[in-house]
Amino acid sequence: MLFGKTILITGVASGIGARTAELAGQMGADVIGVDVRVPSQGQASFIRGDISTSAGVTEIVRQLPRHIDALANVAGLSGNTGLAATLAVNFYGLRALSEALAPRLREGGAIVNVASIAGYGWRANIERAKTLTAIEGFPDVASLAAKHGLKNEEGYPLSKELLLLWTMRAAHQPLFKDRGIRVNAVSPGPVETPILKQFRAVLGDERVDSDITRVGRAGTSADIAPAILFLCSDGARWVNGANLATDGGLEASINAEVLGF
Ligand SMILES: NC(=O)c1ccc[n+]([C@@H]2O[C@H](COP(=O)([O-])OP(=O)(O)OC[C@H]3O[C@@H](n4cnc5c(N)ncnc54)[C@H](O)[C@@H]3O)[C@@H](O)[C@H]2O)c1
Repeated sequence: MLFGKTILITGVASGIGARTAELAGQMGADVIGVDVRVPSQGQASFIRGDISTSAGVTEIVRQLPRHIDALANVAGLSGNTGLAATLAVNFYGLRALSEALAPRLREGGAIVNVASIAGYGWRANIERAKTLTAIEGFPDVASLAAKHGLKNEEGYPLSKELLLLWTMRAAHQPLFKDRGIRVNAVSPGPVETPILKQFRAVLGDERVDSDITRVGRAGTSADIAPAILFLCSDGARWVNGANLATDGGLEASINAEVLGF
């Protein structure tokens, strides 16, 4: 399903992005990797780039080929470097890259956003998510945080709430929709990657251990990569604006508790 397709994957130097790039290559795709860090294992095609600023995104796009079939937005921060950096990478930078890339994505192409179970609260915080996703372009995130009274510890869940809401909006945004570009999300629960240690520091051991206990184990990058690549492929041609929980059943378990069934 991916043979001969060109897929741009961010966050390829580690964890989920690295495994997604490896699997896409094994499936016959031409992978272009992007990361702020250079991967330890050589990538056939790699752009060192930083999506945390508007200039960084522009510089990445400048180096890309004219035709790309799919974009997998995997790069992310845990929140341990503060709210402004986290919102800039996990949401505003990701969105800026997706919008800048839209003209190069082929008709019927795909964007897949790696969100998280941590964004589960988007419905409860809908007004905040509507306001913050309605801001166009790449805002100065530090002043935006001050203006809206956003707290540092909210950075990670907030970034994923915005990403989940925007995924649905983008599926109907003319920039993507008019050319049949599908926009979907994958939401993992805890996954054994370097970021998980940081989540333990940011969210607390209790929260992470409770999530793991609900489903028996933490996920692995190899559990998440096939879901990302399915949504990148034409096999998902009628899936749009969706969030695929890729968490061993964690979201189902939380839904049962929250909704009381
Ligand atoms: N591991 C988990 O438990 C878990 C759970 C849910 C969601 N996620 C999400 O999965 C995605 C991948 O996380 P992971 O677990 O592979 O973590 P990771 O830390 O192993 O990988 C993240 C990658 O993103 C890159 N990156 C960070 N800032 C960047 C920037 N400004 N520009 C370009 N690249 C940048 C890092 O260098 C790193 O290689 C993230 O979006 C994360 O929020 C992870």
